[in-house]
Amino acid sequence: MDLAKRPRRLRNSNNMRRLVREVSLSRDDLIYPLFAAEGSNIKNEVSSMPGVYQLSIDNYLKELEEVCKLGIPGVLLFGVPASKDEVGSGAYACDGIVQRALREGKKRFPELLFIADVCLCEYTSHGHCGVVKDGKVQNDESVELLARAAVSYAQAGADIVAPSDMMDGRVGAIRKALDRNGFEDTAIMSYSAKYASAFYGPFRDAAHSKPAFGDRRAYQMDSANASEALREAELDIEEGADIVMVKPALAYLDIIRDVSAAFDVPVAAYNVSGEYSMIKAAAKNGWIDEKAAVLEAVTSIKRAGAKIIITYFAKDIAKWVLED
Ligand code: PBG
Repeated sequence: MDLAKRPRRLRNSNNMRRLVREVSLSRDDLIYPLFAAEGSNIKNEVSSMPGVYQLSIDNYLKELEEVCKLGIPGVLLFGVPASKDEVGSGAYACDGIVQRALREGKKRFPELLFIADVCLCEYTSHGHCGVVKDGKVQNDESVELLARAAVSYAQAGADIVAPSDMMDGRVGAIRKALDRNGFEDTAIMSYSAKYASAFYGPFRDAAHSKPAFGDRRAYQMDSANASEALREAELDIEEGADIVMVKPALAYLDIIRDVSAAFDVPVAAYNVSGEYSMIKAAAKNGWIDEKAAVLEAVTSIKRAGAKIIITYFAKDIAKWVLED
């Protein structure tokens, strides 16, 4: 055979593959999600997410130390409050669980980036992401409460607030409220294209945030839609989002690609709980090689165009990157 072009030439050795590799994972890309819970000496493993825990503040601080040692730039905080109510007061209470976690964490690890997820679902008795009236999630009323929550997280030390509620106009309202209160340097990472997804199931076990009735399809996006993701991202950027997010990641790589090609702000992707649990479950059964599967999945998310990857595997990935 007389072949001038042989793509295999560039695959023949490890160093050759390293040399021509188009994307590589770095610790710089990672964000590690954490669940802060009330109480002390609490480290409850989430049954559907092996290796992920609800942590009381004491144990959460130990976790932060490990995250810093591994060189991961930031954490994303969720709260597991002791009590919930109709209007999600815990989300904007100045002694709320996330507010306390932020204060304690920022005091000890000032360099670490603290990102606060902004949503009501962990704090409402009905589990919806906003205020409910006549069985419907109210947009504008919810936005006011979300903006209050964002300001209280900024006051407690959040570097970034990350609205994940999918109400219309919340990014603009949060930006205005932050600026009005002197937090013009607090960044917004918006969950811009957040789909109504079956892959959030294990997270709802971790955060006790399963809706008590109905589902989230009247506010989270329909998985069949791609151009709608561009409209959502465009609105959020106009309203002041610094970083836009696509969520989930693996079933939405096309959306990550579209959004990163269309806009010049950094794109984040959330490798969500169900995506984590599937790999964990298959690996536990010996059906898949966990490390290889994780690295392949996360590399795909980066290849699709995400600069920032939020993943429960962040600590493992950081270790593997360091070993290499
Ligand atoms: C809160 C929120 C959810 C996730 C992040 N923020 C759950 C939901 O929308 O039901 C999911 C994260 C994951 O699955 O890992 N709105």
